[in-house]
Amino acid sequence: MSGGRAGRVEGKVAFITGAAGGIGAATALRLIDEGARVVAVDLERRQPVLQQLRESLEDPSALLPVSADVTDLPSLQRAAERGHREFGSLGIVFANAGVLVPEGPVEELPASAWDSLVSINLTGVVHTAQATFPLLKQNPEGSSVILASSTAGIRGGGNSSGYTATKTALVGLSETWAHELGPYGGRVNTTHPTAVGTDLVLNRDNLRRYRPDLPDPRPDDVIEAFKRGKLLDVAWIDPADVANAVLFLASDEARYITGAHLPIDAGSTIKWG
Ligand SMILES: NC(=O)c1ccc[n+]([C@@H]2O[C@H](COP(=O)([O-])OP(=O)(O)OC[C@H]3O[C@@H](n4cnc5c(N)ncnc54)[C@H](O)[C@@H]3O)[C@@H](O)[C@H]2O)c1
Repeated sequence: MSGGRAGRVEGKVAFITGAAGGIGAATALRLIDEGARVVAVDLERRQPVLQQLRESLEDPSALLPVSADVTDLPSLQRAAERGHREFGSLGIVFANAGVLVPEGPVEELPASAWDSLVSINLTGVVHTAQATFPLLKQNPEGSSVILASSTAGIRGGGNSSGYTATKTALVGLSETWAHELGPYGGRVNTTHPTAVGTDLVLNRDNLRRYRPDLPDPRPDDVIEAFKRGKLLDVAWIDPADVANAVLFLASDEARYITGAHLPIDAGSTIKWG
């Protein structure tokens, strides 16, 4: 919170998976800036990043770093219970942990790629719901759940069977869970970003998909290719652009928005359509 005004999520407690990553960290900071406390969940090997994030805060006690793997339900249940014990009633969940792995055409899709996409991007989100919904249902102020989908959750693209399957599945799950949480004052929505400037997309393997002609492509080499798919003049958006959308959906400004699917995509999905 800044400037003495009440924050847009003042006093709320948020549970964010993949909180050490580009979008997760930006969202944790944005929610804390607007008055929330955040249970920041990521893998054990990412704990140093969460500690750094915590130390960068004016009030480090607003962020609780917790080690858990979304493929392991008991570890997430322990994380949710710890957050509840230390911060009180849980009101916001951002199911954000996810991976993008090289796939190729479906007949060449390695079983290991499919398995990791499904276990992290899909089963991991189901586990996040299973670990947190019992706590959300106890919150008399209601709750807001945001599932991190993608433009791949709106329209398919080539060579991404696993990623597309998991991200479209989140659309159906969000509507199912909007029914389940509605009677408890809970809302469930999805976000659908286009490319965001994080390691997930701007890594060497992924850049090579866009510039197979270059041995070692850099982000600057793919700007034109990324811009072509959009109505607005941008190659990739910032993590803060997604964080702002999550903040809105998490806040009471969105109190009657549930079952919605919000593109944050510079017009890319309607351009394809
Ligand atoms: N970056 C993009 O262009 C983009 C676009 C659309 C959607 N998304 C989605 O947004 C989400 C966040 O992406 P990002 O760009 O911040 O990626 P990122 O790679 O920067 O961060 C992802 C985080 O998830 C964590 N994670 C991975 N597996 C995990 C597991 N099993 N348990 C717990 N944590 C785990 C990683 O450690 C990492 O910190 C993902 O679900 C992604 O699919 C990203």
